[in-house]
Amino acid sequence: MWGGRFADGPSAIMREINASIPFDKALWRQDIAGSQAHVAMLAAQGIVSAEDAAAIAEGLDTIAAEYERDGVPEDWDLEDIHMTVESRLTELVGPAAGRLHTARSRNDQVATDFRLWVRQAIDEADAGLASLQRALVARAGEHADSIMPGFTHLQTAQPVTLGHHLMAYYEMVLRDRSRFADARARLNECPLGSAALAGTGFPIDRDATGEALGFDRPTANSLDAVSDRDFAVDYLFAASQCALHLSRLAEEMIVWASQPFGFVRLPDTLSTGSSIMPQKKNPDAAELVRGHAGRIIGCATSLAITMKGLPLAYSKDMQDDKPPVFEAAGLLALSIAAMTGMVADSAFDTARMRQAAELGYATATDLADWLVREADIPFREAHHVTGAAVKLAEQRGVALDKLSLDDLTAIDERIDARVFDALSVDASVAARTSYGGTAPERVREQVAAAREALGMEE
Ligand code: ARG
Repeated sequence: MWGGRFADGPSAIMREINASIPFDKALWRQDIAGSQAHVAMLAAQGIVSAEDAAAIAEGLDTIAAEYERDGVPEDWDLEDIHMTVESRLTELVGPAAGRLHTARSRNDQVATDFRLWVRQAIDEADAGLASLQRALVARAGEHADSIMPGFTHLQTAQPVTLGHHLMAYYEMVLRDRSRFADARARLNECPLGSAALAGTGFPIDRDATGEALGFDRPTANSLDAVSDRDFAVDYLFAASQCALHLSRLAEEMIVWASQPFGFVRLPDTLSTGSSIMPQKKNPDAAELVRGHAGRIIGCATSLAITMKGLPLAYSKDMQDDKPPVFEAAGLLALSIAAMTGMVADSAFDTARMRQAAELGYATATDLADWLVREADIPFREAHHVTGAAVKLAEQRGVALDKLSLDDLTAIDERIDARVFDALSVDASVAARTSYGGTAPERVREQVAAAREALGMEE
């Protein structure tokens, strides 16, 4: 492609280190779409004849059909997807193919292709996350009244409902989707026409190519357009945060599925057995989601470090932008799908969860609150009185609401029989009606609002 200037061809090592076709062949659809938009514009602007443009467009269609059928051939001499397509086009169309690269460079070409690819990855992540939200909301609706221990420090804290707990992840995923949407909005400008770095003297129409490719507008600075990859870094940061949330959900599933907890039975379809211990059902998919989060964050770090010292405009280091993005996108798609299946198909043991909430003195705060409300005791003192009650219950090996009234009045004479209404786990969650709280009625409202937002039928 640059034979005019060179006496010798590249060494084998140069060929190998230079070739990006092994991975950037994934961009073939975007590359051909970009070329179609470009050649149509060149013809409309009278830069290329209608006849040549038609031949080029037809050749590109033929190549697309070939790649669809047979895959993209990998020839290191052709370096990358852009040269691979152009070389095949030359075979098909002859010298007219050489007119396609008028007013264009691989620098604006790859920036355009890559934006298109990342945009699609964002759209796919968003669709997957919407499915995960639907699964969360469906299960939360089923379990708006199911009581479980809520934890801080992984110590039983206060009773919550399983529906409330699941809806916490709905909120996290909502923000993940909004991060992807933000990244998409910033990404959606078209670099095509920035050419190598300085723009072009040909009378191109950048609005036309941008519009044809679904971009909102052309990029405003040609140097910036060919030399920044912040759209890819944005995507990877959004993917990292999303993976981090998925990893926390996965971790909870792993803990809940363990025998001492026994809160959930994971679906067989997302578990594996042990080759030596017949009783085992291992949460491998959840563990891999947890592991993949590390790799996805690694991908984000990798691209950020690739970019951090580069002068404007394009440098070949930037060819290394694609592997981490492709890797992260694949891992994220799998992670979203695995967690969606896990949420949809796991069997929650609500009796076991309830029992754990009852045995963990989860309603101690309710006793303290009752003393404040009904006996007008300052909270700090109420906290102390309640501590004594917990200590006694622990000695007796019973739940707080199974202490006798005599036991309780012996601790503090201001306690009376009405207290038992406040000490059950049901009373505890029902009382937490503050906005965003765990009361079943609040959870049902959250679920209804989410169903509406997701367009789930009643
Ligand atoms: N394969 C290259 C990449 O992915 C395409 C751009 C090449 N541009 C250049 N000036 N060598 O970055």
